[in-house]
Amino acid sequence: MKQEGNVQMMNQSVAQEKVNGSLGRYLEQNSFITELVELPETDSTNRVAKELAVQGASEGTLVVAERQSMGKGRLGRSFFSPEGGIYMSMVLRPHIPAERAVLITTCAAVAVARAIERVSSVTAGIKWVNDIYVNGKKVCGILAEAGLNPEREEPSYVVLGIGINVKRQSVPEELKEIVGCLEDTGEVVSKEELITMVWEEFAKLYESLSTAVYMEEYKERSILLGKEVTVFAPEGDYTATVDDIDRDGHLVILREGKREELSFGEVSVRL
Ligand code: BTN
Repeated sequence: MKQEGNVQMMNQSVAQEKVNGSLGRYLEQNSFITELVELPETDSTNRVAKELAVQGASEGTLVVAERQSMGKGRLGRSFFSPEGGIYMSMVLRPHIPAERAVLITTCAAVAVARAIERVSSVTAGIKWVNDIYVNGKKVCGILAEAGLNPEREEPSYVVLGIGINVKRQSVPEELKEIVGCLEDTGEVVSKEELITMVWEEFAKLYESLSTAVYMEEYKERSILLGKEVTVFAPEGDYTATVDDIDRDGHLVILREGKREELSFGEVSVRL
């Protein structure tokens, strides 16, 4: 499986760049992964995975790169992606309505937090909706992008992208105050082992995607619950208190005593 799998379904550029790395050995036990594409460098693993999804790649196709030249973050931001981090994207074909696709992000956040704790002795928290925090700093970002089909309620695919800062060089100098890495915690983490754990945990949780049973754990790991936050909104920033995260992954806030739900966006909290 994986390593030398369906190269013929990839377009020329992806197939030519593909290398036989060491990951295949680690991921062999994971039956959720149907295809592994390892690249020394690419612009964005999400971009490559989307291209493969459009060409018909099956659920479980995983693209991993050593570095990215144009790593994408949420809200149109870029994601610093030099060597020393984990950059990977998975093709999914979930049977959920497109408006619930945010659950992929919440499910992945729990999987990454669990995986980090399995390979180290740190505690991993989740900042709604897609960031993993260790020792007060962001060490991982998640970007899920859906390909919509106007004739169907379900997305035709979702590409789930995960970026984890492992080594010190993966932290951008200008963001050192808020962005961290696993190496900074004094842990020696093997990238291959961490990748293996992420997909092992994700495969377990993905089975119950629509029932969202993992939301309880997501909430327990939340670094926002009960906290006062600043919500960045187009009409102007405001403060609110985080009251809950509901089963659809919405952030429930109290704004001047009134309950409101946020389905996406950006909030900041003083840690
Ligand atoms: C964020 O923090 O805003 C989300 C960052 C997501 C980064 C990952 S790295 C692998 C995948 N490929 C990308 O271009 N982005 C995601």
